[in-house]
Amino acid sequence: MLMSLVIAHRGAKGTAPENTLRAIQLAAEQGAQWVELDVMLTADQVPIIFHDPVLVLSAEVPLLVKDTPWKRMQNLQVAAPVGSKEASAPIATLEQAAKLIHQLGMGLNLEIKPAAKGLGELTLKRSLEVLEKSPALNLVISSFDFTALQAAKQLAPNIPRALLYETLTKHWRDEVRNYQVRSIHLADVASLNPTIIASIRELGLEVYVYTVNSVERAEELISWGVKGIFTDYPAKFTRLIATTSK
Ligand code: G3P
Ligand code: MG
Repeated sequence: MLMSLVIAHRGAKGTAPENTLRAIQLAAEQGAQWVELDVMLTADQVPIIFHDPVLVLSAEVPLLVKDTPWKRMQNLQVAAPVGSKEASAPIATLEQAAKLIHQLGMGLNLEIKPAAKGLGELTLKRSLEVLEKSPALNLVISSFDFTALQAAKQLAPNIPRALLYETLTKHWRDEVRNYQVRSIHLADVASLNPTIIASIRELGLEVYVYTVNSVERAEELISWGVKGIFTDYPAKFTRLIATTSK
């Protein structure tokens, strides 16, 4: 198995400010062994853990991450989800996140999420430079962006790669071959079914599904051959982890 059964999506995003050090810490406290984080580059090419290419600050004009230097962003806070008791938390760099994940003994699925079209390869390169200087981690690199996967294949062939899709494209088998991925990560859409999962597994690949917040749905997906799920609420899945690891 590449990753664990339960992967904390953007950290424990359901209860903590997403993609922050606090979200990683909380994911570990909630029993997750792996965390999924998004990485993109600031204007000065610092890899930061962030999901949206646009930073919306209250009472200010939105900033584009690709045009904003790290110095301008480092004191900005990510809000906790509505209803959470958690405080807001600062935006984290990949360097900070990698250090914490190592300390916590977790694995990292790093999703390369370019801040603008055309930045896939550069985002991958700068992320690898940070990871090479960081303590070694169990890593999987995933992306919707083919240029990022191509660069990962060339520059870090030994790190397992994953293709991300909402739903499989017409050419998914060619894409599997081109980027030599070990897993496919699919959205949990209504059209997902056991035949789709089986067709991927026939090629020897693992299937992971995002984002699953219901234990019943996770059990159904696992019965179809899905290896693991990304969830915003790792704590909900403690019983499932205990049952399946017996
Ligand atoms: O990597 C799985 C999932 O995170 C992909 O979608 O938009 O949440 O980054 P998104
Ligand atoms: Mg993601």
